[in-house]
Order: sequence, then structure tokens, then C-alpha cells
Amino acid sequence: MHLPKAELHLHIEGTLEPELAFALAARNGVTLPYADTEALRTAYLFEDLQSFLNLYYALMAVVRTEDDFAELADAYLARAAAQGVRHAEIFFDPQAHTARGVPLGTVVEGLGRALERSEEKHGISTQLIMCFLRDQSAESALETLEAARPHLHRISAVGLDSAEVGHPPVKFREVYERAGELGLRKVAHAGEEGPPSYIREALDVLGVERIDHGLRCMEDPDLVKRLVAERVPLTLCPLSNVRLRAVDTLEQHPLPAMLEAGLLCTVNSDDPAYFGGYVGDTFHAVHEALGLDREQLRTLARNSFEAAFLDHDEERRAR
Ligand code: HPA
Ligand code: ZN
Repeated sequence: MHLPKAELHLHIEGTLEPELAFALAARNGVTLPYADTEALRTAYLFEDLQSFLNLYYALMAVVRTEDDFAELADAYLARAAAQGVRHAEIFFDPQAHTARGVPLGTVVEGLGRALERSEEKHGISTQLIMCFLRDQSAESALETLEAARPHLHRISAVGLDSAEVGHPPVKFREVYERAGELGLRKVAHAGEEGPPSYIREALDVLGVERIDHGLRCMEDPDLVKRLVAERVPLTLCPLSNVRLRAVDTLEQHPLPAMLEAGLLCTVNSDDPAYFGGYVGDTFHAVHEALGLDREQLRTLARNSFEAAFLDHDEERRAR
């Protein structure tokens, strides 16, 4: 689907295609425990979020240098451009890299190099969102934010990702307060596997402007009313929800009911190398499986620009 759109829920590490993983492994002398790309692809059968995260973190071992990060981001931007993406707000997971000895500066400067050229090369404006791993400590998140201080000119917002259940937003109250003081915008994953109360907490305690996923709001009608009234954007990822078993099949995804309820829904790819499609593929899949018509697809595309961290002039240019 080539409707112009913004992508707002995309983990750059989740765009690592098997071919690039093997190329980087060879370049960096890393041995992968898979014979080839086909063998690796057969590992992409997930039970839940954690079983995916295990592979996602393991495969990152091949991405090491500034050039690697630049190449990873450039490959995503090329694919996204071919699917109608005009603006991308891109997550990255600094702690997953610093924990294995890759300096934060290598990550941010490598990604930044690709992002800097993106408008000219791919016609995509970009922003970078630094995510904290919620299954790590609040202290580690605070240290990460402090370490990012020299790179804040490249970073627009903070986010919260990784294993959700048992790690409620309130754990990160202090680091989000500090991020706000530093002028960063705020989003958080909530209500993917975690309960609707995590969505409320992300709004009320962390002060986020968007909810990443937010799928489980549908279990709480009062919360749905609030999200509608306040026009809180939800960055949904239907293919991810199927692969990680948040829903049984795409046909059963609540996206149509969520649109019907008046929620400000957007559709995104999350970790496209692992979940079977980039954002244009996702638009196509929800059209086929859920019978969304052209007008509804146009609404989703329009919503993505409304939900983006763009000012009015930037928004007009991107559309
Ligand atoms: N949820 C939480 N953490 C993640 C995801 C996700 O879908 N993808 C990469 N990290
Ligand atoms: Zn995500």
C-alpha cells in the first residue's frame, strides 16, 4: 500500500534481516548458531513476547560498529520508502548494546549518520526515540539517560520496551521526570501483554503522549472513553500481535472495533524482519484480513501524521 504514511512504532534492531545478520556476522567475526538464513528463519516461531525477545537480543550480537548501525538504519529506510513511509520515529535500545560493550556513542552516531541523509536519499524525515528496557532496573535507565546527554541533539523522545508484565510504568517515574526536564517527549509500550492499568499509569505517572500498542485497553470501557476523549494515539502493530500471540489470528484483531470506538489508531510494523512485513505490507494485510476499506486505510494513514511528533509545517510537507 503506497498511501503516504508515518511509521511511529519501529524498533531499528527489529529490522535486522537474516541476510544482513549473516553479512555483519562475517564482517565482525561473530559465529551465529544457525547454518544459514533459511535455518535462522525457521527460528521465527514465537510463543509470546519473551520468546521473541530472546532471539531479538541474541541476534544483535552481530551489530557492532558505527558503520553497522548506519547500514542497518539505511536498509530500513530504503524498505520503508518503497512502502510509502514519509516520516519515521525510530526506537532504539541503548542498554542492549552497552551491555555487550558497544558504546552509546557508536549506536547513536551510527544511526544518526543514516538518519541525517534520509530526507535527501529516501524522502523520509526521521526522529529517534531512545527506549529503556523495562526488565532492567530504574537505576540503569537513569544511567542510560545521563550517558545520552552528549547525544540529545539527535534524540527526540524516550520510550519503554522489552518484557512488560511485572514491570509497570511506575518503576520509571523518576527517569521520565528527568527526561521531561531535559526537553524530551515521552511514549511507552503499555497494554501489549500487560493489563489496562499499565496504560493508565503510563499516562498518569509517566506523562506519555502516545501509547505503544495499547491493545488491551479494549478490556476497560472507561479507559477507552478516556483515550477517545483525550485523543491519545495508539501505535498498533497487528502483525506483531499475531506473531507474539496477543491475538490468535489477524482476522480476530480488534482494530476495526478500535476504529469504530473512535480511538486514534495507527498501524505500524514493530519488528518487521521478525514479524512478516513492513508497514505497507501491514496495511495490505489488515485490508485483506479485516476488510478495512480504502477510507479506513486513509484514516489510519492520516492518523499517523496527526500522532507524529511533527509541527504543522513539517506535517504538511511530509503528507
Ligand atoms: N514489545 C516490547 N519490547 C519490544 C518489542 C515489543 O513488541 N519489540 C522490541 N522490543
Ligand atoms: Zn514495540
